[in-house]
Amino acid sequence: MKKIYLYGNWKMNMTVAETKKFFDGFESAYAPYKNDAGLEVGVFAPFTSLWALADCAKKAGIVFGAENVYSEASGAFTGEVSIPMLQEIGIKYVILGHSERRHIFNEPDEMIAKKVKAVLNANMIPVLCYGETLDERESGHTFDVMGRQLSTAIDGLNPDDVKKIIYAYEPVWAIGTGKSASSEQAQEVCGWSRNLLGIKDVVILYGGSVKASNAKELLSMQDIDGALVGGAALKPESFLDIYKAFKA
Ligand code: PGA
Repeated sequence: MKKIYLYGNWKMNMTVAETKKFFDGFESAYAPYKNDAGLEVGVFAPFTSLWALADCAKKAGIVFGAENVYSEASGAFTGEVSIPMLQEIGIKYVILGHSERRHIFNEPDEMIAKKVKAVLNANMIPVLCYGETLDERESGHTFDVMGRQLSTAIDGLNPDDVKKIIYAYEPVWAIGTGKSASSEQAQEVCGWSRNLLGIKDVVILYGGSVKASNAKELLSMQDIDGALVGGAALKPESFLDIYKAFKA
């Protein structure tokens, strides 16, 4: 049985108080799975909640990380947060290239690639998101767009580094819409991505409206190693119900 990665992206939600409250309820929801070697749970929080998240997640025994970082170590980059700042509070994982960073904040492929390299150079793990918009899919450009996003992000990396990255295919049209990709659509892209990356045992997640009701179908697909979950990750029960549904 393959290992399932269940990662939650809190986006711009969860204050310090809310982070602590989440973990008050997490322990009992997670208890049945705590020793399940087939599951890796992770939570990604806004910068201001990371200190509290690091503390709570360590106690709970789960992975934790940031939702973004800048590629330079220090300097005149008002409003940005650096890798050493994250390392100081024990952060090892960072989501990069989320569609909201790409589309709302206009982060280009090249900027994301720089961040990927900087994070790997710091011995941290990027969770690299990529995916097409509805227009791109409907006009038949899905694979060009994802090929460009993925190839730019891994350009110049050695195979060891390519393998360290956790990939998350997140079609933009499925994020926060309640309309997940079908398991066939998600499998098609994740399988295609594995071929493009050229490494068989790389970790590839699917994200976009994952919830308990569609978890089994999606997570049973051969090339889908887990889920990056937004809305359903804000409550411990709805988050862990995704794994429960997969196991049922
Ligand atoms: P969603 O978000 O589960 O709310 O669709 C997923 C994501 O953006 O990572």
